[in-house]
Amino acid sequence: MVKLLPVPLGIGVLAGGLLVWERRARKHAERLGAATLETLLATIDANDAVTGAHVRRVADYSLILVDAAGFEERIRRSIERVALFHDIGKIHEAITDIFHDGSRLTPAERRAVMTHPLRGAQVLAPLAYFFPDLPEGVLCHHERWDGKGYPRHLKGTQIPISARIVAIADTFDAITHTRPYKKGRSVTDATNALLAGRGTQFQAELVDLFLSPPVMELIELSMAKTFAPSRKNQRRGRGKVSRPVPDITFRWRTVDAAPRQRDR
Ligand SMILES: [Fe+2]
Repeated sequence: MVKLLPVPLGIGVLAGGLLVWERRARKHAERLGAATLETLLATIDANDAVTGAHVRRVADYSLILVDAAGFEERIRRSIERVALFHDIGKIHEAITDIFHDGSRLTPAERRAVMTHPLRGAQVLAPLAYFFPDLPEGVLCHHERWDGKGYPRHLKGTQIPISARIVAIADTFDAITHTRPYKKGRSVTDATNALLAGRGTQFQAELVDLFLSPPVMELIELSMAKTFAPSRKNQRRGRGKVSRPVPDITFRWRTVDAAPRQRDR
């Protein structure tokens, strides 16, 4: 004869089982979201190793700034994701050849390039279920503090913090690293560009923090170690990377996983 549990005990066991099931389901969903991002990052690399290298450097510089600002882990991860995928719109077929061309951009090409934040946000929109602020951060990374950016001319704190931080890191890297269509310049040139945009293009407090000696020291260390495409492939605008890729996406696999030890 089947022996039934006392009713209160039976409900307790059922509730406990549901809780375990719910935790497992959440963990699976997090892994699926993170795996999707890793696949997308691999797709960027496969299409354009120069952009793959650029977004990793931007993510590294953004994280240095985020750590100096003392943001909580949830925001830190969100900013890291926006940094890694801010240029995913550039691998769209309407734009990608413009970057590999190597010549100066025509006005029409420039207009085409300016669609990349929207194209990127559209690519990432289905992932908003897992990462609600990712498409919006990517959409806003060319907005300016003074409202003269694009695509929506947002102003000041209307721009998500992720996009404000990525804008600084992106500009710094765009100036200091050679791209297929542009030769890299010095850290001093990049510093001057950030100072010129302080309070207009960029949030003044973030520029001050980025250019502070302790942060710049870490940025320069990162510049010395971060990978870049080989010279030959850099000239071609694509190809194999010459140094291993920092595993900065690995931390996303579970929400409660310990942050990766910074390898600097
Ligand atoms: Fe961009």
